[in-house]
Amino acid sequence: TLVTATAASAQTYPTKPITMVIPFAAGGPTDVVGRLIAQSMSKTLGQQVIVENTVGAGGTIAAARVAHAQPDGYTILLHHIGQSTAPSLYRKLSFDPLTSFETAGLVTEVPMTVVARGNFPAKDFSSMVQYIKANKDKINLANAGTGSASHLCGMLFQHAINTQFTTIPYKGTGPAMNDLLGGQVDIMCDQTTNTTSYIKSGKIKAYAVTTPKRLAVFPDLPTTREAGVQNFEVSVWHGLYAPKGTPRPVIDKINGALKVALKDQLVIDRFAGLGTEPVAENRTSPEVHKQFLQSEIAKWKTVIQQAGVQPE
Ligand code: MLT
Repeated sequence: TLVTATAASAQTYPTKPITMVIPFAAGGPTDVVGRLIAQSMSKTLGQQVIVENTVGAGGTIAAARVAHAQPDGYTILLHHIGQSTAPSLYRKLSFDPLTSFETAGLVTEVPMTVVARGNFPAKDFSSMVQYIKANKDKINLANAGTGSASHLCGMLFQHAINTQFTTIPYKGTGPAMNDLLGGQVDIMCDQTTNTTSYIKSGKIKAYAVTTPKRLAVFPDLPTTREAGVQNFEVSVWHGLYAPKGTPRPVIDKINGALKVALKDQLVIDRFAGLGTEPVAENRTSPEVHKQFLQSEIAKWKTVIQQAGVQPE
C-alpha cells in the first residue's frame, strides 16, 4: 500500500542527493550559511546536499518553489527572517509560511551592520544619520528586494530616523556588496556573514550593529541604541523547511543532521569568524522553530504596519 511505501522510503531516506534551495544569490550571506551546514549535513546523511540558488522577489520565489515541491525530503529550504515578514509585505503569495511547510529547525541568528561605501563622508553613526538626513534625495541604499533582511533593516532605519531615501533592489546582498565596494551605491544594512571581511579590510565603513549587545568581532562598533537611535534592532534568524506533508521520520533525519552541523567545530569556527553562532540547542527542534516563526510573523506584522509600509 501507499502508506507502507511512504513509511519504507522514510526509513531508508535519503537514497539520493537532496536539494537545499537558497533564496538569494550565491556568495551572499544566506548562501554562506547554507553551504556550511549543507556540507556538514551531507556527511551525516550520507548523501550530497546540493545548494541551489533560486533568487528573486526577496526570497519568496524560492519559498514558493519549495512549498510546491514533492514532500519527500529531497527538496528543502533554508530561509531567514524573510519567511516571517513576507505575509505583511506581499498581498499575494502562492504559499503560507506557517502552513505550507514543515519546520525542520532553527539554525543561527545573524547580527546586522550599518555600512557605507569606503569614501562615505561620515565618521560615526550620528554624523552618518545627519548626513543622510541632509542629503536624503541623493542617498541610495542597496538591498536584496522586498522581503529580504536588508530590506527590513533599511525600512527600520528609515522609520527610526524619520527619513526616506532611495532603495535599490538586487538578487542578494552578495551582488549588492559589489556595487557598494565600487561606490555605485552609498549605504547598506547587511548581515555580518557578508560584511565582516570587508569591514576588517577597510573596503567599506561600518557605523553600528543592530543587536542589543556589541559583537566580539567588532568590539569598537557601537550598537544602534548606544549610538542614540532607538527602535532599530534586528537579527536575521535562519531556519530549515520542507514542504508540508513531508513524513515526520524524514523531518527528524533532516533535523538530526542539522543538529550535528550546529555542533560541528568547523561550522562553529566559521560562524564565529563571521560574527555569529549556532542557535542554542533548546531552539533547534521543529516545534520551537514553528512557535518562533509564528511569533515572528505576528511581531513583524505590527512593526511593518506601524512603519506605514503597504504590502506590494
Ligand atoms: C542574501 O543572502 O543575499 C541575504 O540574506 C539577502 C538579505 O536578506 O538581505
